[in-house]
Amino acid sequence: MKIIAYGIRDDEKPYLDKWSEENPDVEVASTGELLDESTVDQAKGADGVVVYQQKPYTAAVLDKLGSYGVKFMSLRNVGVDNIDADAAKRNGIQVTNVPAYSPEAIAEFTATELMRLLRRTNTFDRKIAHGDLRWAPDIAEELNQMTVGVFATGRIGRAAIRIYKGFGAKVIAYDIFHNPELEKEGIYVDSPEELYAKSDVLSIHAPATKENEHMLNDDAFSKMKDGVYILNPARGILVDTDALIRALDSGKVAGAALDVYEDEVGIFNTDFGSFDKIPDERLKNLIKRENVLVSPHIAFYTKRAVRNMVYFAMDANKSLINTGKSDKLVKL
Ligand code: COI
Repeated sequence: MKIIAYGIRDDEKPYLDKWSEENPDVEVASTGELLDESTVDQAKGADGVVVYQQKPYTAAVLDKLGSYGVKFMSLRNVGVDNIDADAAKRNGIQVTNVPAYSPEAIAEFTATELMRLLRRTNTFDRKIAHGDLRWAPDIAEELNQMTVGVFATGRIGRAAIRIYKGFGAKVIAYDIFHNPELEKEGIYVDSPEELYAKSDVLSIHAPATKENEHMLNDDAFSKMKDGVYILNPARGILVDTDALIRALDSGKVAGAALDVYEDEVGIFNTDFGSFDKIPDERLKNLIKRENVLVSPHIAFYTKRAVRNMVYFAMDANKSLINTGKSDKLVKL
């Protein structure tokens, strides 16, 4: 049995090597290159592919995989929004993801960024760097006095809720699917609008779907409390960036922590050499603001998460090849 892993980064390689050692029945090939039309030929002769990339898995690539008889594709991440689902189905390609490599990694990072916003650390860091050690006017707020609205209560949302509760915040949530435990606690509100109206902090943990593109737009912001904080460690496309900038300018939004950005592909996880060379003026506008924390999609980036992404994806691919089954199959 042969599996080829695409887009393997240096930090993933030791885990892939270890998995390979522990699975001597599998021939493992790997490349640092992403899966696209120029690299798909490397999958010829393999039984399955293991992938992670933000770039689309296009119909042309999936058609080729299908023509090589490669019917099993295992993603090392959660999000499946960059797969051409029709092409995968047409080629009979079964897809797995890693739904939970470390929900806590993302939740902890999101809470860290929220605390940085509330305690004005970005502003203080900048002041201190210039020798300004004064307190005023940068007085902070306390999370234990606030209501946090969690949008989507999947694994990451629930991990975030545990942390917010630990700080003593009041937590409310919106999701189409109600988690039975949270339901018992009476945490759910009935609509996104109700969540917007009642939250001091909005913590977004929804996957990207066709329906929720730009769900945080001018209309949504207008329904929120004045001075709301926005946390988006989920998907850039959920937030209409222009609307967010308008809401920051007007003061409607007091601060935002963005680990994702709608135009991040090709920009995040790249070294441009200097701030000026970042090729996106809108992103630079956001980064320059003291009350906005932009990070390059790093909430997931911990040793445990990276290890689990490699291991769980390889295990799922092997299981699909061996049995045609996996508990991580995705319904596209
Ligand atoms: C995902 O798992 O879908 C993520 O967003 C994290 C990714 C950058 C590896």
